[in-house]
Amino acid sequence: MKQNLFTLLFCLGGATGASADVLPLIPEPKQMVTTAGAPLRMPSKVSVAGALPPDTLSALRPLADGLGMTLLGAPDTAHATCVLLPATPSDSVPPSGYRLRVTPRGVRLSAHTVEGWRYGLATLWQLATCGEVRPVDIHDYPGLEWRGIMLDVSRHFVSMDFLRKQVDVLARYKFNRFHLHLTDAAGWRIEIKRYPRLTQFAAWRPNALWKDWWNKGRLYSEEGSDSAYGGYYTQQELRALVRYAADRGITIVPEIEMPGHSEEVLTAYPALSCTHEPYKQADFCAGNDSTFVFLENVLSEVMDIFPSPYIHIGGDEAAKASWPTCPRCQARMEREGLADVEELQGYFVRRIGSFLRAHGRHLLGWDEILSDSLPADAAVMVWRDTAWVDDAVAQGKRVVLSPGAFFYLDAYQDAPFTQPEANGGYRPLDQVYNFDAEPMFAGCPDMLMGIQGNLWCEWIPTEADVERMLYPRALAVAEQAWTTEPSRYASRTSPRKDYAAFRRRALAQNERLRTEGVRAFDLKNEVGHRPEVAQPVNHLAKGCTVTYNAPFSPYYPAAREATLTDGQRGDWSYSDGRWQGFIAGPRLDVTVDLGSVKDFGSVEADFFDAPGAEIFWPAEVRVSVSADGQTFTPLGTAQATADNIERSPIRTWSWTGKAQGRYVRVQAPAGEKKGWIFTDEIVVR
Ligand code: ACM
Repeated sequence: MKQNLFTLLFCLGGATGASADVLPLIPEPKQMVTTAGAPLRMPSKVSVAGALPPDTLSALRPLADGLGMTLLGAPDTAHATCVLLPATPSDSVPPSGYRLRVTPRGVRLSAHTVEGWRYGLATLWQLATCGEVRPVDIHDYPGLEWRGIMLDVSRHFVSMDFLRKQVDVLARYKFNRFHLHLTDAAGWRIEIKRYPRLTQFAAWRPNALWKDWWNKGRLYSEEGSDSAYGGYYTQQELRALVRYAADRGITIVPEIEMPGHSEEVLTAYPALSCTHEPYKQADFCAGNDSTFVFLENVLSEVMDIFPSPYIHIGGDEAAKASWPTCPRCQARMEREGLADVEELQGYFVRRIGSFLRAHGRHLLGWDEILSDSLPADAAVMVWRDTAWVDDAVAQGKRVVLSPGAFFYLDAYQDAPFTQPEANGGYRPLDQVYNFDAEPMFAGCPDMLMGIQGNLWCEWIPTEADVERMLYPRALAVAEQAWTTEPSRYASRTSPRKDYAAFRRRALAQNERLRTEGVRAFDLKNEVGHRPEVAQPVNHLAKGCTVTYNAPFSPYYPAAREATLTDGQRGDWSYSDGRWQGFIAGPRLDVTVDLGSVKDFGSVEADFFDAPGAEIFWPAEVRVSVSADGQTFTPLGTAQATADNIERSPIRTWSWTGKAQGRYVRVQAPAGEKKGWIFTDEIVVR
């Protein structure tokens, strides 16, 4: 197995006396005890054998092959590095768990199930990163039953080979769900034999880049026409993918969007929209029975391809714009006694849920599907805010957590000005890792079904970009989903989170992935958080009252009136809750009350620049002073200091001189572009 210098250095550190917590394992096993004895040299080609039934060995072969392990014909244990055994009661292995013992003589892996042996082999593969492994005794089992990654293949299309490659990677980190967002306005991606226009037309568009398509009319193209971009997976390809993933312990979960995000369908089949006009609507008509005939026919083919017990029906962000004026929708509301279009969406989802249930499947959808009338067996994927967890639990619905603020992997993972264009915001590895689901479900542990990371691909045009955005953050999702156990929350004695230790493990795995051809983000050269964030700033105005002569925006209030004197600086994202936004009238115009007349020599403020979001640096920054809060004397304009980090969106404006007074007024009007002004602290020294 190829190793680069970083991996070798990491592993030497691990092998020369560090404790088991630096073994490069993700997710971290539940219990791990290093034992006495010399390290075991792992051969570059690990061989595995065991006295297991032939069908068990065959079930393990695809994963073992992918991990570069030779699965010997049972029971050739004399020549094997690792011996597979059925677990005995003394191993204390839970049903899907495993026990892995490394001694100077070899490796023994015990489990009860194919699942358990698979997880053990993945752990062994990770241990082999180091070539030499200290004797260790690992007891391990999965925390949550759903450990997922979602990939949006609608906004940009990826190949089947690429999907299989991701299955290989996900299996190494013990994921067991791969959710494909197969349909959306930007392109339909699954062959449906009954409705050929979905793949002849709705799967293609004139612009390769989603951004161009979005800005240039959002049109579709005929398959094979000049410069048509897109594609779809045939049913045969998808069946093969389902088998490939199942052989590695992963269920492929299909998502078919409804009632919204369906512009592509409604342009191919306009009779399914309220007005029957192409290019006009995003939502299916909820009053037309043909809509349900269409969706049930589509879902029948989908269920035939995908054995997943849960079928994801989207359900998010349906504007329902045409429903209030559509005679059919109105007639349906009248007939069914539905008070408004929200209840009509509830009816829509319930009807689809009943159809799925009649076919032995369960409905899964984004949290907008939450309504009192949701089918009893439905589950909810919470994405908007964890506040929706309470609603779901109150309705007895199990939850897959994928809150956008933590598990949406399309935001920047490093300082945005160092990265290719991505969706707004800054979501570094530590933010994904540090989310804590356990307190939320401590009183109802069974309601947390799983955790999932989602990669939306509007801004992710190539397969290389997908891998750069997925890894290593998917490793933090894997760790979360495997180690989260709300049922044990109350009895935990040690803090569960140790980001520094996790980052060392993630670095080792990430480098290994990069060595093996996965184009993961270069974590070892991460710029990381804005340095000022770690250090609260102490200054004369800290904790002082701020009067807003013009209001801050209710959309970006940060810590409201406390924001500008709380000593906290904002990070690389203007929406991180520490930057305050101003759009009204004169933009920033505040007066800081120092509490008493004081001498000061400088007034400073940082400003954010994000032209794509209409956020600009100010035209100028004026500082004035007053003893009584009524009569102000101008001190002059603050000067922009040179960037201390090249290309940084954040720049400091600073006034220096000699002044005395109690009230300091800072005004930062917009320039010609008249956009937003964002600042995080008024520093007086
Ligand atoms: C979503 O992000 N609209 C589920």
